[in-house]
This record gives sequence, structure tokens and C-alpha cells, in this order.
Amino acid sequence: MLNAKVHQVFIARILYIYAFILKYRYMKKTVILFGLLATAGFIRAQQPLYKNAKAPIEARINDLLKRMTPEEKAGQLNQLNGGIFTGPAANDPGQQAKIAMTRQGKVGSFLNVTGAEETRAMQKVAVEESRLGIPLLFAFDVIHGYKTIFPIPLAEACSWDVTQIEKDASIAAKEAAAAGLHWVFSPMCDISNDPRWGRVMEGAGEDPYYGSVVAAARVKGLQGNLNDAAHVMACVKHFAAYGAVQGGREYNTVDVSRVALWNKYLPPYYAGVKAGAATVMNAFNIVDGVPASGNKYLVHDILEKKWGFKGFVVSDWNSFDEMITHGYAANRKDAAYKALAAGSMMDMESKVVVDYLPQLLKEGKISMQQVDDDVRRVLYYKFKLGLFDDPYKFSDVAREKATEFTAAHRMEARKAADASIVLLKNENNVLPIDAKKNTAIALIGYYAKSKADMFDFWIANGKAEDAVSVLEGMKEKFANSNITYSDGYLPDGSSNDALIDNAVATAKNANVVIVNVGLTGKLAGEDRSLANPAISEGQVALLKALHATGKPIVALVSAGRPLVLTAIQPYVNAIVYTWILGTETGHAVADVVSGDYNPSGKTVMSFPYAVGQIPVYYDHFNTGRPLPDSGDLNWKSRYRDIPNEPLYPFGFGLSYTTFHYGNLQLSSASMKKGSPLQVKVELTNTGSKPGYEVAQLYIRQMTASIVQPVKALKAFQRVYLQPGEKKVLSFTITDNDLAFYDGEGNVHIEPGAFKVFVGGNSRDVLEKDFTLQ
Ligand code: BGC
Repeated sequence: MLNAKVHQVFIARILYIYAFILKYRYMKKTVILFGLLATAGFIRAQQPLYKNAKAPIEARINDLLKRMTPEEKAGQLNQLNGGIFTGPAANDPGQQAKIAMTRQGKVGSFLNVTGAEETRAMQKVAVEESRLGIPLLFAFDVIHGYKTIFPIPLAEACSWDVTQIEKDASIAAKEAAAAGLHWVFSPMCDISNDPRWGRVMEGAGEDPYYGSVVAAARVKGLQGNLNDAAHVMACVKHFAAYGAVQGGREYNTVDVSRVALWNKYLPPYYAGVKAGAATVMNAFNIVDGVPASGNKYLVHDILEKKWGFKGFVVSDWNSFDEMITHGYAANRKDAAYKALAAGSMMDMESKVVVDYLPQLLKEGKISMQQVDDDVRRVLYYKFKLGLFDDPYKFSDVAREKATEFTAAHRMEARKAADASIVLLKNENNVLPIDAKKNTAIALIGYYAKSKADMFDFWIANGKAEDAVSVLEGMKEKFANSNITYSDGYLPDGSSNDALIDNAVATAKNANVVIVNVGLTGKLAGEDRSLANPAISEGQVALLKALHATGKPIVALVSAGRPLVLTAIQPYVNAIVYTWILGTETGHAVADVVSGDYNPSGKTVMSFPYAVGQIPVYYDHFNTGRPLPDSGDLNWKSRYRDIPNEPLYPFGFGLSYTTFHYGNLQLSSASMKKGSPLQVKVELTNTGSKPGYEVAQLYIRQMTASIVQPVKALKAFQRVYLQPGEKKVLSFTITDNDLAFYDGEGNVHIEPGAFKVFVGGNSRDVLEKDFTLQ
């Protein structure tokens, strides 16, 4: 092959020279033609192998690596912000400098450059103006949709509808890909027990098993098989244990045991990696005293060696540089060294790798082999996405227009939003309200009207004005009714006598009062920790005054996290938890209020009884002195002023119908390793409406070499039942479901006594015993 090429080049050159000599002498025209043909052959023969679309990726990468200077290799590991700031703007060199760096081959990827036209323009600089023409990767935080905004990930997870979750991710990917993006910083796989932490909104809640199921679905939905221009690379983040920040305070210290790391925090990242995620993002926090970005145990030992991750690792915003502030790296050069030595690869925003990699290579502190391995992984995805052959494949203005915010996407967003809503309380069946009848409805609450407060920060390129507010959705659905609106409180959630008086006057003329309380969406997400995640005093006062009217009160609670609801309980007949639902908020809320959608969501985080109870979670340990239900409570693990139990447990959610669980059966009371156990339970819809129920199966190992949680979710089924319908649900328990990790990450399956529980939430369950031989 190579010989043939050399030969071809040689002949082309001879012919070209020959033609040149003969020019203008004899046979003028023929010779010029001859010369042109020869030149074309020469150019073709000169095309480097890495540009040959027919060559295998591996060979193309090898060829390219041979041509790259150390500076260009460092460039491939450099990611710069090219648009809005999603982190501190310090040290930003400005747009012109970034373009110049791109021209010099010193940028491998941009984040926050979006739109078919914008990405095309930037790509042109890299491809047409840099020496080797290596295309850029464009990345963005597409957390719950790109233009069509879906419910926040935490809310969406409350649907327990894994098929819908995967579909939502695939729509987000499709819209993002049409806007020139190749890569999204999603899914967030951080398990957290702490609603003080604003970022719980981005995850799937407190449970490692469910978190793993959701992580895998999101990765699959985003990535597909990455060979069309309708999917994007996923990024499992933030590796690892970011959800355990102390006190729920953003960017704070993490100090978890290795047992907790392996059993509670790592499983969802692992599931995302196993599902094929192309990239993993470091976390800001320390683990075992070492910043995650420079943590060899996390990145090299676990991710690379144990899990066999073949994609690439990207830092979080400036997190390489922040290792200096943490007190782990002495200076920027040391930060670059420590990050690369740990196995981290691409540097988002701190520019320490682009500045110091060549020097570290020269000094022999890092090897060319390692650098090549890192760069190879980045290049691999650029080839895999087809960018070397068509750098503008994703940046297609016509496709962008045709793909975004379509009616079909909005319909899926509405379905997802319907299924995300959790009904927490419904005294005397105050809900649903029949939309066919004429009801006088008082709709109160500033957040029901204000689109600016509907959304969190992570709405990508979605627009609040495109969304349906609760007021709009309710007016549309209840066209036969008379809806009167009153603010009730101010944008910050506080209230005053005038606002409350007005709301009360509005309520007095109504048959039913619906009050949207909670938090502005602006208080959900990164850098939004709250010491007191509860309903504001102003809103409690409002509800108290409205309750005094004697009218039935329905609270719609919107927030990006579970709030402490204890203070409002006495004043409301129903609580509908509406989270942050996205583009279709108003439609979905009206669907549920009217009963057109029978609520089916179940919490994926426990709702604390009081702030002082946080962290409160269902899969806790028994302690040596657990609190009994009755009898002598002294010298037991308890609070003197509040219950141990959360206000609403994990897995909880009501429906407009009722479900009954009965006749729990095991195929055997003793299970042998390698032969699964069958669990059967009868589920009956005992109410008068069709609806979905999420049946949950939990396990407890009674004695083990490492103590096990009092319950751990191992399976679930989302089933639809007509009134009166009964289904026998069967679950299979395998060895895997009984396994746990020790602190070194070894898997244990230990014989002994177990309990299995099945029910509609983590508290109200049937149970049976079995043993593993
Ligand atoms: C966040 C990441 C995000 C990144 C880029 C960081 O501040 O922690 O989740 O992907 O910024 O916007």
C-alpha cells in the first residue's frame, strides 16, 4: 500500500516536470491538460492518511499523532468557554485570543458555543485555518432539554418511567445535535441525601440502584450509537461523591467512607459508564483528602482499571486549577501534572494543560505514551462522530430549525411532566376538580403566573416565554370555570398584609382555592444551597389565612428539591408537588388537577420532617439502638422533638385511585447461589379510576461482614390497572441483588438471613423472610 503510494507520487512528479518543460513548445494544449491531471494525482497522493475517510480510525489516529507537536497535543486536551459563563469568569482571555489559540491548534473543544451558525463559524477556524485542521468538539449543559424543556431530572425521575426518561434524553440530544453540539454534560449521577444542596435537582435522588437505572437510560437516550447526527456524547458527572458535600453547602468538603463510596455513591456512575458513556467529568470536591480531578484512586484505579473506561475524562470548570486552592497542587504546573498523572485528561477552563504539558513532557515528568493515550481518546470521538470527514455535520441551519421545539417534542415533554408530578396529600378527595363543570376557582400565587420564576438556570437554549404557565394551563383546561387570580406573595416568596388580604378576598368568592407556593426556579441548581429548604414564612402565613376562609385548599408546590412541608400541613387539604416541570408546566398541572392525568409520580428523595433531620433517607443502617415503634423509647437513637421518620418516605406518592398489595409469595424460603428466587405479589386497583402504580421491591440482609441498610431497593415495576383489575406481579431475585461492596470495591455475596419487602413506597410494605445458602 505504502509502496504503491510512493510510486504514484514519483510518477506524478516526473509527469509534472515533463509537462512543464514542454509547455508552449509542441502540443501546447495537450501538454497543459496532461500537466493538470498529473498535478491532481500528485495532490491526491499527498493527502495524509488521517484525512482518508476510508482508512480505519485506528490508523488515522496513529497517522495524525505522528504529525502533531506537543503543543498541538496539549491543545486537544484544552477546552475553553466560548459563550455564556457557567462558572467564574476569572482569567478569561477574551474571544479574539480564543480564536487565535484555535488557529494555532491550541483548543480541542469549546463549551457553551451553540447554534448551527455559531458552531459552524468556530469550526471553520479550526478546520480551515489551523495547521492540521483538527475539528473541534462543541459541548453544552443540556440538563433537561435543549429548546423543548423537560421536567428537571429529579422530577422526571419521580415518574419511574424509564422508557420515557430515555426518550426525553434522546429528544434533548436530537435538538442539541441539530444546533451543532456534539457533547452534553449530562447525566448528573450524583446521589444525594441532602435537599439543602441545590444540585439535587439535576440527579435522580437518593437511591443508588434507582440512580443507576436512570443513569443508564439517560446515557442510552443521549448517545444512541453515535453514528448519526441525531445523538451526542454523554458525560457522566461529577465523579465522584459530589452529592455528599457537607451540610449541603455547594463546593464544600466531602468525607465519605470507602464503604459508602462503593455502595452508595459509585453505582450510578458505573452504570453510566457501562451503558457506554463517552466521557466522565471530575467533581469539584475532595475524596479521601484528594481533589477528585487529581485523585488517582478514583480516575486511574477505579474508572480506568476496574471499570475499563475507554472514553475520556474532562475536568469540571477550572477544577484542575482549583487543586491549588484546595491545598493539593503547589502551582499551575503542578496542577497540570497532578491532574494528568491521576488519569484526568481534558482541562475545562483552567488552561494549565495547554500551558504546561509540553514542559512536563520535556522534563520527563509525563511520558509521550501517556499523552498520546489521552489525546487518542479525544481524537477517537472526533473520528467516530465523523467530524474529520464532515466537520459541519452537526451544524445544519435547516435541520436546526426543523428539529427544535416541535409539537411532537412538546407532547413528549407534557407526558413526562404529567408523570413527574407527585400527589402527597389528598384529604377527602378534594382533587381532582372536574373541568367539565363550572367551578369558581381562586388561583393564588405569584409563581403560577411568572414565567421568569418557572425555570432553573439549566434550561440550555429554552425560553421561559415559550413555556406554559400554571395560570395559562389552568385557564385553558378549565375554560368552563371561572378562574380568578391573585399574587399572594412577592417574587422572593415573602408576603404582606395587603397581598394576603387580596388573596383572601379572592378565595372567599371561590369554591376551591389553589395556591402555588414553593421556591422560584432561580433557587434551583448549582451554587443554590439553602440552609433552610422550607416554605417561606410569608407563604405559610398566606396559607393560614386562606385556610381560615373554610374553603378547600390545594397547594401546588414548585421547587427543585424536596422542601420541608410540615408547617403547611395543617392548612391544606391537598399537596401536589409540581417540582420544575419545563415547557409544558401549565398543561401538566392542569392535567393532574382536572384528573385528565391520574397522578402516578413517587418521590425519589425522602421529604424531611424538619431541616434538623437532614440528611434523612430510607436506606439507613439499623444502629445498635434503633427506635422501636412502641414501648421504652429511652436510650434509643431518636430526636426528642421530632419523629425519626421523614414527612413523606422515599417511593411515596398518591393516586386518585387506590391500590392494594396482597399475597406476597416466594418460590422458596431458601435460595441457593446461582439459582434465582421468584417473588410474586397480587396488586389490585381497589379504587374507581384507572391508574399507574409503581410497585417497589426492597431487600435487607440481616447479618453480614459489613452491616447492610434496613432496606435497599432492588427492583420496581410501573403497572397500569383498570378499576377492580388485579395483576400478579413477579420479580426475580438473583445473587447480584444480594451483593454488596467492601471498602476495596470487592463484591461480597454472603449466605444468611434476608428479608424481602414489596409495596407502593419504602415504608408501607409486605414482607417475607428467606435465607441464602
Ligand atoms: C458544573 C458542571 C458543568 C460545567 C460546565 C460546572 O460549574 O459543575 O456540571 O457541566 O460547569 O458548565
